[in-house]
Amino acid sequence: MAEADGLLDVGDAAFRTDPYPALAAVRDLGPLPRHDGLGARVAASYDAVHDVLRSRDLGRTYTLRVPRPGRPADQWDTFNALHEHALLEVEPPTHTRLRRLVARAFGRGHVERLRPRVEELAEDLLDGCATTLAAEGSFDVVEAYAEPLPVLVVAELLGWPEADRHLLRPWSQAIVAMYELDPTPEAEADARAAADAFAGYVAELARERSVRPTDDLVSDLVAVRDAGDRLSEAELVATVVLLLNAGHEASVNGFGNGLVSWLSAGSPEAGVEPLVEEMLRHDAPLQLFERTVLRPCTVAGVALEPGERVAALLGAANRDPARFDRPDAFDPTTARDPHLSFGAGIHFCVGAPLARLELQVAVGALLRRWPRLELVAAERRPTFVLRGWSAVRVRPR
Ligand code: HEM
Repeated sequence: MAEADGLLDVGDAAFRTDPYPALAAVRDLGPLPRHDGLGARVAASYDAVHDVLRSRDLGRTYTLRVPRPGRPADQWDTFNALHEHALLEVEPPTHTRLRRLVARAFGRGHVERLRPRVEELAEDLLDGCATTLAAEGSFDVVEAYAEPLPVLVVAELLGWPEADRHLLRPWSQAIVAMYELDPTPEAEADARAAADAFAGYVAELARERSVRPTDDLVSDLVAVRDAGDRLSEAELVATVVLLLNAGHEASVNGFGNGLVSWLSAGSPEAGVEPLVEEMLRHDAPLQLFERTVLRPCTVAGVALEPGERVAALLGAANRDPARFDRPDAFDPTTARDPHLSFGAGIHFCVGAPLARLELQVAVGALLRRWPRLELVAAERRPTFVLRGWSAVRVRPR
């Protein structure tokens, strides 16, 4: 057993509740220690994570590929196809081509135009929260606010039919459950079924938009597919599914994690922008992303061989005392270096401007309505890679 194994144990409930002391101990082992359980080296310092994500000698290759040894071999085709052709899982030149197709829609200027609509959606949802508050004395801000808001926004952007919005969250949750390090056979079966249903739905939606285009991103992508050789059918489906999933999972968890951190720190006052950045830094909603070594290289001072895998621990990087003063404190009042919650390098989150806009609007509108909130109860998801709260109950103080 490599030394990092004893420290980073995702099966341990205490680790999942508060992984930061263990992540600090992994960071103290030096750059890129081995972790046999993960079958990978781990990067836990800010500099090591940054170097791993930016190195062109390391790439995303689809390592999740199922079935895993000892599991039934059939029925994974759709699940694998959704990943193999997705922007997040491919390298240049395919990555460059696919990223260009979606980058414009998610650029800052384009996204800023959505602000009034996001504000309107936020206020509507807060009206619902106010009703619950009047009846129950508190409300679950994740269930009633943080979760529906990004789902509504990304669904509108892509043109997902309103009547079927309720399908998105369960499909997405079933698929992303596979990104945890120890999925159960039941989780695998759910993920397969969700991938089949999701891909089938998107293919059908694309057929409809091909006949009757509307003003949305699915129609735009269909037009690109139909115009020539820049987007295949498999890539179209994988891109739409990725955008719908990535477009809300981390935003929901980023809001919940950040709000609990903020309230637990005594709600220090700050402008909404620094507050949101500190929310994203302090308790990263995505904790781990993997890379595979493509050619012999040295990264973070360590010589690496092709085929080796490296896991970048984003939450650990964000708490590195070499980069952040008092890293475990939630402090939106001091200027800090940029966090790594959106990654770095060519796969840097294409949705970051949208995520920031959503979080700024969500936090701003919530605090306008109830400037002083207190935490009543909160329930953590039993996960590590996608870190979040399933429920966060609050009430005005
Ligand atoms: C707080 C919210 C969010 C966080 C923390 C987050 C974080 C990340 C991170 C860390 C990556 C890089 C993964 C890697 O390097 O392997 C990434 C990539 C990506 N994100 Fe986000 N994300 C968020 C919201 C969004 C939103 C709203 C969208 C848009 C619809 C989105 C779409 C994507 C896509 C498509 C990629 C792949 C980009 C590429 O491979 O070039 N994300 N995100």
